[in-house]
Amino acid sequence: MNEYDSLAMKSLLKREGYSSARSLEEADIVIFETCSVRQKAEDKVFGVLGRLAKKKRRQDKEYPILVVAGCMAERMKKDLIKRYPEVDLVIGPGHIHEIGDKIKDIVEKKRGQISVSGFKGTIDDIYNEGLYENFSGVKAYVTVVRGCTNYCSYCIVPYVRGPERSRKIEEVLTEVNELAKKGVKEITLLGQNINIYGRDLKGGKIDFLSLLKEVAKIPLIKRVRFLTTHPKDTDIELVELMKTQKKLMPYLHMPFQSGSDKILEKMKRGYTRDEFLEKIKEFRKVYPELSFSTDVIVGYPGETEEDFSLTKEVLEKVRFDGAYLFKYSDRSGTKAEDEMEKVPQTVIKRRHKELLELQNKITFESNKNFVGSTVKILIEGTNKTDKSSLSGRTEHNKVAAIQKQDNVNIGDIVSAEVVRASPHGLYCY
Ligand code: 5AD
Ligand code: SF4
Repeated sequence: MNEYDSLAMKSLLKREGYSSARSLEEADIVIFETCSVRQKAEDKVFGVLGRLAKKKRRQDKEYPILVVAGCMAERMKKDLIKRYPEVDLVIGPGHIHEIGDKIKDIVEKKRGQISVSGFKGTIDDIYNEGLYENFSGVKAYVTVVRGCTNYCSYCIVPYVRGPERSRKIEEVLTEVNELAKKGVKEITLLGQNINIYGRDLKGGKIDFLSLLKEVAKIPLIKRVRFLTTHPKDTDIELVELMKTQKKLMPYLHMPFQSGSDKILEKMKRGYTRDEFLEKIKEFRKVYPELSFSTDVIVGYPGETEEDFSLTKEVLEKVRFDGAYLFKYSDRSGTKAEDEMEKVPQTVIKRRHKELLELQNKITFESNKNFVGSTVKILIEGTNKTDKSSLSGRTEHNKVAAIQKQDNVNIGDIVSAEVVRASPHGLYCY
């Protein structure tokens, strides 16, 4: 999502006559497109921003213009300006479309430091002609729902990205068509809780399944993926559609977050461990080739050793093809922040390591299961670790490499037999 917003800001500034700088040192404007989901991401920004602000202060210069955009801008608002007097603009995700005007105001010295935030009354459709002017690549991401209204107790997203807002289907299709003309073969539709696409749109006729069907109709688009589904809103109809519509890739990212009902309840996730496991079982029965990935949070406040082993058990039972394992991070303003029984960092670290080891083993085994089978790979480019080979992704989203061949080009979908697996991917040579 941040990549999409960065691309939008880039094209909006291009309209104002700006172009990309070759290095940080040469830049007249430095924009931080930030994430607030975990403290670690914010700390990285503080590091680089602090360094640039210090340099600007020391040299007593007006440039570079320092901009903080994205979720940290929305979360901290004026506090960022107070903390860093060298920051010129703090602009939340609901105001990205105003970036050009705000930069102009700063350059023309119409105003001092500027902070814009909030979602009310903003037109936050940041798609604009020229967004993909310089786009090249075989894969692209298109946001279809902005924000989220779920308020999971640990999550900052509803506060910093605002309530769920679906984009009109016509706009999404125009954008996908434009990307298809640019050579894109694979589209990933994005939404924090993408299942609910359309429920806030007038008329109420368009839902997520109809969106998927329409996107899949675009001839030049060969593969359609989507992120992220929520277990409480994902039904068998979606899986049935994935099974019948072959452009929909057999890969479902469905975060379960915790295997303990006590923790799931505290997290306000809206499902139980058994309901989640039942869904997986039902989906696999209908569509055995479907692969799953998930997100897990380790060390949510009040998580005991028993709760933790219940989470471990879900990983063992489901055997996800991949899992993103996160250490719980306290986010100011969320319900979880008020929970009293915080798990010590040392315990979180140990549990995280244990889960990582388990999941790495499972992922490797899942990779090994592909050895001997034929996979279809969308070729993305030269393999970074072995320049004599090409790499891409299989339908199940595994990284796969094949030997370079004269008749195989970037953007082709090729069939190849897997001869070897590593913990990170598949080899067809
Ligand atoms: N701490 C740790 N992980 C978090 N996530 C969201 N909020 C937090 C938090 N406060 C994780 C969830 C979500 C993923 C995108 O980030 O697992 O699915
Ligand atoms: Fe955050 Fe996802 Fe829950 Fe929305 S559904 S509040 S984005 S964890």
